[in-house]
Amino acid sequence: MIDVADLVVEYGTATALDRVTLAVDKGEMVALLGPNGAGKSTLANTLAGLLAPASGTVRIGGRLALVPEGRQLFPDMSVADNLALGGWRSGQRDPAPVYELLPRLADLAGRRAGVLSGGEQQMVAVGRALMSRPQVLVVDELSLGLAPNITADLAAHLTRLNREQGVAVLLIEQNARLAFELCSRAYVLESGQVQAEGPCAELAGDPRVASAYLGGAIT
Ligand SMILES: Nc1ncnc2c1ncn2[C@@H]1O[C@H](COP(=O)(O)OP(=O)(O)O)[C@@H](O)[C@H]1O
Ligand SMILES: [Mg+2]
Repeated sequence: MIDVADLVVEYGTATALDRVTLAVDKGEMVALLGPNGAGKSTLANTLAGLLAPASGTVRIGGRLALVPEGRQLFPDMSVADNLALGGWRSGQRDPAPVYELLPRLADLAGRRAGVLSGGEQQMVAVGRALMSRPQVLVVDELSLGLAPNITADLAAHLTRLNREQGVAVLLIEQNARLAFELCSRAYVLESGQVQAEGPCAELAGDPRVASAYLGGAIT
């Protein structure tokens, strides 16, 4: 569903992604880990077509939707209207399938997005992405600013989406424990380069990955 080869993305003279090669197959749930500034959002935005590669190739094998970092909702608009915007480009207006997966959103439909809690806002951002009926979903920092129990709840919805509907997921996370729990494989991005990749069980056992990403600071 995602096939990236030797991808280079630049901001002016600064290289944000340096020959990144990465793939997500149909039905897979794959993690992308890395510290702040590693280039994770740059990759997400390039996959979504918001940034152009300087070189290399990006191939997307189906409809891709992005849950952007920081949610990026329209705070003065209702939840229902925020969702509608997610289906606008693909001509999908019926929120029923999204409400079926995320029933809480139906209760919140008439509320202004800006007054919701962080977890509720993240749920709206996920729901908005799902409005286009994507075959591959890129989630940029699911857990950012959320309490662990809230994140776990959202993660369970993503797992269901992946298992029951076969939607491929690229989960960008700073919380490696969470990512390893949810995903089968992971990539570690540092300074714009893929520094490690493999099955999560293997990466979790890699001393370098463990000390950098599973150390005391990460819960
Ligand atoms: N719009 C931009 N203009 C210039 N530099 C940027 C821009 N966005 C990100 N960068 C730089 O590109 C690098 C990667 O950033 P980003 O992709 O946001 O990393 P991450 O999501 O892993 O924290 C960082 O050095 C960041 O400062
Ligand atoms: Mg980011």
